[in-house]
Amino acid sequence: GGLAVACASSPPQPRFITPADPEIAARDRALARSTAVVPMALSARPVTVDLGGVAANTWAFGDVAVGPEIRLKAGERLRAEVANGLPVGTTIHWHGIAIRNDMDGVPVLTQPPIAPGQTFVYEAVMPDPGTYWYHSHSGLQLDRGLSGPLIIEDPNEGLRYDHEWTVFLKDWMDGATGTPDDVYRELTTGMGGMSGMPGMSGMPGMAGPQYMLTDGTSALLGGDAGDVKYPYYLVNGRIPADPPQFAGKPGDRARLRIVNAGADTAFRVALGGHELTVTHADGYPIEPVRADALLLGMGERYDALVTLEDGVFPLVASAEGKNARALAIVRTGPGERPPPDAPVAELDGRIPMAWDMSVTEADRLPRREVTRALDIRLTGSMSPYTWSIDGIPFDPSSVESNRLGVRSGERVRISWRNDTDMWHPMHLHGHTFQLAESGARKDTVIVLPKATMATDFDADNPGVWAYHCHNSFHQDSGMMGNISYE
Ligand code: C2O
Ligand code: CU
Repeated sequence: GGLAVACASSPPQPRFITPADPEIAARDRALARSTAVVPMALSARPVTVDLGGVAANTWAFGDVAVGPEIRLKAGERLRAEVANGLPVGTTIHWHGIAIRNDMDGVPVLTQPPIAPGQTFVYEAVMPDPGTYWYHSHSGLQLDRGLSGPLIIEDPNEGLRYDHEWTVFLKDWMDGATGTPDDVYRELTTGMGGMSGMPGMSGMPGMAGPQYMLTDGTSALLGGDAGDVKYPYYLVNGRIPADPPQFAGKPGDRARLRIVNAGADTAFRVALGGHELTVTHADGYPIEPVRADALLLGMGERYDALVTLEDGVFPLVASAEGKNARALAIVRTGPGERPPPDAPVAELDGRIPMAWDMSVTEADRLPRREVTRALDIRLTGSMSPYTWSIDGIPFDPSSVESNRLGVRSGERVRISWRNDTDMWHPMHLHGHTFQLAESGARKDTVIVLPKATMATDFDADNPGVWAYHCHNSFHQDSGMMGNISYE
């Protein structure tokens, strides 16, 4: 049917929302379901981390490649003190949380960057249960160690399980032969395009280890020719040579909380010899679906239940199109660890996508007319390396850049129209959108090449909200904008 959009007048330009905004603070207070305040101290600094027998110089929150898991109950208040020990500014974003806008952690849009040597306190109620994560929102810092899981527990949830295992996935090359910024420089100066040409990469002295990008092209990093082992792929900060291990008993039920925190990798995840029952997409309950494997774009999460068989099994996250994998081991008895390249038939089995799933009745958006339609056109190319919205790259210094307006209280339909030849995991801050009529509720959705994806949300959290591709390199190149209202 036709959308009731003709009547919607153009929305007013919101004032810039400052941390002192009393309405934003009042909304936050109203979401609290207890007086509990959960404290957390995060110190971002240059460190050497152990990836499992391999040392990497990076920026992280501790001496491992993954930040500490933050856990609290829905309706509790998080108080995270972030100390910036980096040589550059930073901010922390709480991915997927319908947080108060001034705590959303986007430089310029919601706060000035935390300067080197300074501390900033993020304090906000975490309103909705689910599997989330936090990460730096400054430049390509996410592609270093500056991210970690954020689990909001649901005190009223009916699920029964014996173990809860967070599976935090990353692609990693920082400190191996370069930094994310080196890769980005190669891409944007055109060198990345050259190194992707057949025949170039194998020439001694001409090319070193390559950083393979999602679409099969590659970027050059320094190093020895022929020694192509980067990036690494990590589960909970470990390479497959020394994988993390999850232990249980045969017949136990485990809940997997899977997070794709990669910068440039879609992961296909399966547990060898097991069927998954998928229960949540991006933290929101879905009607359970059976799966052999799950495919996660950058920023996406799935929760799945699994009943453990007797033995030792590979939990594999295959890097799509890159012929490499991240690995963890699930063990319920004695026995040899499976080799890192053990065949896992489930990877080629049933893989439900978010658009095949349905939100549970209780979490469905109330049925109503769409009152505002936004078309967001995804544009750009690998060569020249530029990514944009409607042909315009985001200007990170301007709150006006690629800004779309809505009015508070509207039901908004975003149609993400992908005019490019690559897929993009599109993310909206501060809200959860619903796919199609009753599809999964998500905050990040894969938009396939040349396809359009419709997602609906209610404008019930005033502020300046970033939307962007969660491929960090695309985002940094300009596939980003904001939706604003008061
Ligand atoms: Cu997970 Cu704007 O980010
Ligand atoms: Cu993209």
